[in-house]
Amino acid sequence: MATERTLSIIKPDAVAKNVIGEIYSRFEKAGLRIVAARMIHLSQEQAEGFYAEHKERPFFGDLVSFMTSGPVMIQVLEGEDAVIKNRDLMGATNPAQADAGTIRADFAQSIDENAVHGSDSVESAAREVAFFFTEDQLCSRTR
Ligand code: PPS
Repeated sequence: MATERTLSIIKPDAVAKNVIGEIYSRFEKAGLRIVAARMIHLSQEQAEGFYAEHKERPFFGDLVSFMTSGPVMIQVLEGEDAVIKNRDLMGATNPAQADAGTIRADFAQSIDENAVHGSDSVESAAREVAFFFTEDQLCSRTR
């Protein structure tokens, strides 16, 4: 097992539902540490930049519009196998297919408004963390 960092975003639908604390509790119970966090209302430019790899997808416009519809809570999670551990906690992209007890099964309503984002690989995580945080903003607790 390797200590990793991953980027997590609690999306506007889940922030509006007031479940940030419940989601944080799941991270912590799974052994993931929150080493940086900020709440922001993404600009169109930020959302388009963050999701640039999806810009040719048919849902891109709706995704950007949803992600800029209200504040998001962005955090860096650190721990053993953090990337896959967070993906397991989140559940499938489409909440209708998410396993019971996952964040999306419990808090998301549709594939368009699915409560959380999590990096899908260590490489994506490095890029996504750097998109929102500088290295000196990460309060690593590995030592
Ligand atoms: S894929 O096919 O594996 O690239 O898709 P994925 O990375 O799982 O999802 C891409 C992001 O777009 C969001 N999104 C949608 N995906 C598929 N279909 C529809 N209609 C759709 N609408 C939005 C999806 O939640 C992923 O966002 P993140 O923030 O990465 O979870």
